[in-house]
Amino acid sequence: MNRTIVGLQWGDEGKGKVLDVLAPSYDIVVRYQGGSNAGHTVIVGQEKYVFHIIPSGILYPGVTCVVGNGTVIDVVQLRQEIQALLDKGVSVTNLKISNHAHVVMPYHKKLDEIREDRAEKKIGTTKRGIGPCYADKVSRVGIRVEDLYNYNKFCRLLRSNLAEKNAVFERFGETSLKFEQIASSYLEAAAFLEPYVENTQVLLQKAHKAGKKILFEGAQGIMLDIDHGTYPYVTSSSTGPANAANGAGVSPDATGSILGIVKAYTTRVGGGPFPTELKDSAGEFLQEAGHEFGSTTGRPRRCGWLDLVQLKYAVELSGAKDIVLTKLDVLGAVLGDTRLQELKVAVNYSEQSWDRPDPQYITFKGFGPIDSATKWEDLPREAKQYVNYIEDFLGVRVLYVSVGPQRNALIKNPAWVA
Ligand code: IMP
Repeated sequence: MNRTIVGLQWGDEGKGKVLDVLAPSYDIVVRYQGGSNAGHTVIVGQEKYVFHIIPSGILYPGVTCVVGNGTVIDVVQLRQEIQALLDKGVSVTNLKISNHAHVVMPYHKKLDEIREDRAEKKIGTTKRGIGPCYADKVSRVGIRVEDLYNYNKFCRLLRSNLAEKNAVFERFGETSLKFEQIASSYLEAAAFLEPYVENTQVLLQKAHKAGKKILFEGAQGIMLDIDHGTYPYVTSSSTGPANAANGAGVSPDATGSILGIVKAYTTRVGGGPFPTELKDSAGEFLQEAGHEFGSTTGRPRRCGWLDLVQLKYAVELSGAKDIVLTKLDVLGAVLGDTRLQELKVAVNYSEQSWDRPDPQYITFKGFGPIDSATKWEDLPREAKQYVNYIEDFLGVRVLYVSVGPQRNALIKNPAWVA
């Protein structure tokens, strides 16, 4: 009954849209890792919502949305995200924030920035302080959400962290950070967030026992996983479904079946290996037609062909048997008088390495516009062939294909979904 949704590439697979469509069938949606490095875009009518840490299920009043213990939260930014929803008339009474999640502090963001700016080989982080915050968590010097409500403890932790981090900033000729400034803005944000904070592990365990349906929401993608991705060009958490239980505080048997989200081509933001990257007009075409710019940083995403070698790895690792294929319409888009006449898909690497793979491709015929398709039968034969090939190669079922940003632009595959 429960389900875990994960991206099977380098993030930005369109999880937000799929979550938005599935959320009303669940009682609870829980985000289990990452922070405001993520960005989910949901378009409803004329309204565009960008979520960084709040699960997109918040748009449905009957769905409880949990920001789990495995996340890292910039409380000032979360406050702004909540305020933006309230300004649009969206109720957030069903939002629950884990008291055990770690707080992203200004010194985390500054450290992230300094490391990035000084690095010879840049990871291309979002500079949201994610890596340094998880590092402090593991070093046992982090500040958890509940610490914001214990004044003496918060002050003690903030002082000792600032002493350590300011010494580093000074060493690099950077200005140090001031205790008073941070304390006042963080305590103010904490007061605003207090009604939403609770022990969400207990909430989720009770809900699971009571038979409530829970949707576990992963951020980023398998190839950005700290252990299994293209290290060090990864994010600082375990993005795969195995972490859903840990990051939510439930037993592993509560996290249900796994649904992988796959974009019909490949993108990645930031540095690191990208076997099927296109540095030519086809790459530019995908970037423009797919509006491939980061929802968190606005950076252009690198674009390339679909990589079934990479996806096979991600399917094995995640255990996903079902997938949703997003942005299929982009492959058929027309820009001016140009469209992709042929599509390539990587099926083998000459060397088993993300760095020097020299991929071997097979070629499909392009299929032209499909953004007005509403059912499977409306898709051209070539588009269906593309989907069927992916299913056969990966041994998965493609349950839905997405052909546009709107909620309803999601087509059921009648082979698997009634
Ligand atoms: P960090 O998570 O900000 O530390 O960034 C580490 C790497 O993960 C960088 O390459 C980022 O571009 C990438 N990254 C982090 N979050 C996302 C995301 O939501 N989508 C795509 N890439 C991401």
